[in-house]
Amino acid sequence: MPGETTSIVIMGASGDLTSRKLLPALFNLWLKGRLPGTFNIVGMSRSPMSHDEFRDLMWEGVAASGNFADDRAGWEEFAARLHYCAGDLGDLSDMGRLGKVLDELEGGAESVNRLFFLSIAPTLYARAVASLGSSGLANGVSGWSRVVIEKPFGWDLGSAQELNGAVHAVFDESQVYRIDHYLGKETVQNLLVFRFANAIFEPIWNRNYVDNVQITVSEKLALGDRAGYYDNSGVVRDMIQNHLLQILCIVAMEPPISMDADSLRNKKAEVLKAVRRWTTAEASAHAVRGQYRGYRDEGGVPPGSTTATYAALRLYVDNWRWQGVPFYLRSGKALSEKVSEVVIEFRRPPHHLFSGEISRELAPNMLSVLIEPNEGVHLDFEVKVPDRGMHMEQMSMEFHYDSAFAGQTIPEAYQRLLQDALEGDASLFIRSDQIEEAWRIVDPLIAAWEDPYPDSPLHPYEPGAQGPGAADALLAADGRAWLTGHSDHPGAAVRTAG
Ligand code: BG6
Repeated sequence: MPGETTSIVIMGASGDLTSRKLLPALFNLWLKGRLPGTFNIVGMSRSPMSHDEFRDLMWEGVAASGNFADDRAGWEEFAARLHYCAGDLGDLSDMGRLGKVLDELEGGAESVNRLFFLSIAPTLYARAVASLGSSGLANGVSGWSRVVIEKPFGWDLGSAQELNGAVHAVFDESQVYRIDHYLGKETVQNLLVFRFANAIFEPIWNRNYVDNVQITVSEKLALGDRAGYYDNSGVVRDMIQNHLLQILCIVAMEPPISMDADSLRNKKAEVLKAVRRWTTAEASAHAVRGQYRGYRDEGGVPPGSTTATYAALRLYVDNWRWQGVPFYLRSGKALSEKVSEVVIEFRRPPHHLFSGEISRELAPNMLSVLIEPNEGVHLDFEVKVPDRGMHMEQMSMEFHYDSAFAGQTIPEAYQRLLQDALEGDASLFIRSDQIEEAWRIVDPLIAAWEDPYPDSPLHPYEPGAQGPGAADALLAADGRAWLTGHSDHPGAAVRTAG
């Protein structure tokens, strides 16, 4: 009889996320010896399947994930801990059967832990949690019990509050792990290290030195087969409310007193509370929405859909550190490249000492944190061109993970997040108050775009382009332009417009 055992229960196990992301991450953690000594993984969904069929289905996803196709032997050993229980999570007798499967696997261990991962349609979250509660599965084990909930958490402030209420009726907040997979990315965590493990950047990380901050998450991918979800969601719910606002929090937050979950999340929640709330009427002045041409012809999209596939916005963080510094956020689908990055543009030198010597205005220093691809950091500064008087050019000092840590692959976000959830570290998960504050920020924009406000037109853009011109105009109105920090050549500061 083992002293301690952990059951990882995946609800919605036949879905795409389970085989494509969760199982490769769990298998990887197991290979690295980072899963608990004694554990079982139990998948549940409605499709009837034997344990072996479930294992084969998961192997397809794991092999396709690219890393393990040769490690069939390792997989066989790991897969022996994979089990399947067909059932409907809303049906108490099915949940009872799941309970029996768990009891059997847990074999009367002295201490039993359970991690429930909801890999199901968001409309089923409340039902699943209620059912975990009423079946007695959620609590009542001798060790810990936790629930991991995927995004989107709610549809707007009201629905998020309702869902928080439903979750808290069964689980204490300390048991709840709301996922934003961007927080599991190594390079997003590197932003924390960059800011708080180096002493030289923090003194200039404020309105006295920073002119503006730009956060870009652009995707080449178009809609794919996700019309059912995406056409009701759009880019603000899908990307801005969660991923981009979370990055903004890390850029703008005050130093926490420690890295423990509550200290970190308190500081992030303060940022969200300080973000100036645009009203629905103000939305048109601070936000631009776009839709790529051809979106309405994608399978499953209603012909007249006004869903935004691109958004650019200007936000302010109204606190001592950031007063008056614009934070520009943009995200979209079917764009020219897949890039996630943060660019911080510093103020220009106060006095143009070399103005008679150079043929152009001095470019401001720029710091780019490259989240993906080409993961790393660039710092751009002016240098003297040799033998040309005081002629200058902007050059880039660069750090890249692939060259600095050659041979080491950057793990997928889900690896870190699953490991943290198993270890009880919630610092990279979203607390209920953060979710609600984030909805308070975006709800008025969504409302402005859902009522056809004549001032907030839906700008069409060409697939493969950089998004609508109106997004450039948003910054040009402030005398600025979008910056691209990721080009890996000297003088990388590329000003794309303005
Ligand atoms: C998801 C969104 O949360 O993030 C998708 O629902 C988007 O629409 C994806 O494609 C982007 O994630 P990543 O890690 O590929 O940048």
